Amino acid sequence: ATNRTFTMLKPDAVEKGHIGAILQMINAAGFRIVAMKLTQMTTSDAETFYAIHKERRFFPELVTYMTRGPIVAAILEKENAVEDFRTLIGATNPADAAEGTIRKLYAASIGENAVHGSDSDDNAAIEGAFHFSGREMF
Ligand code: CMP
Repeated sequence: ATNRTFTMLKPDAVEKGHIGAILQMINAAGFRIVAMKLTQMTTSDAETFYAIHKERRFFPELVTYMTRGPIVAAILEKENAVEDFRTLIGATNPADAAEGTIRKLYAASIGENAVHGSDSDDNAAIEGAFHFSGREMF
C-alpha cells in the first residue's frame, strides 16, 4: 500500500553540500515529497526525538551531532515507503552499506551517517508529526 516515511538529511550531509544530490536520489527512487524544510534541532528536540537511545553510550554524541547545524526534514510518500527508503539509505554503518546507497555514497561513519529513515509506519507518523504541522503536509 502507499504509505509515508520520515527522513532527515543530517548536519554532516548539509555541511558537505549534499542536499541536492540526496534529494535527486530520493526523487529518482520514486518518492513524492509530502513535506520538507530546513530546520535545526535544539538539545531538547534531539533528546526527545532520540529518547529510545537515551541509555546508549553514544547518546550524548548523537545529541551534539544532530544539533550542531541545520538539517533537512521531510516526509516522503510511496508504495512500501518505510522499507524501500531503508533500502535506499543502506545500513546504519556506511562500512556495511550496499553499493549505490545514500550512506555508502555520503556517510562518514556509524555516528555521522548522513540520513535518517523511520523504522516503522508508526514511527514515521510520530516523527513526521514531531517536525511538521498538518498545514505543512501536502
Ligand atoms: P539512526 O539509525 O538514523 O538513528 C540512531 C542514530 O544513532 C544512528 O542513526 C547514528 O547516527 C547514531 N548511532 C548509532 N550507533 C552508533 C554508534 N555505535 N556510535 C555513534 N552513533 C551511533
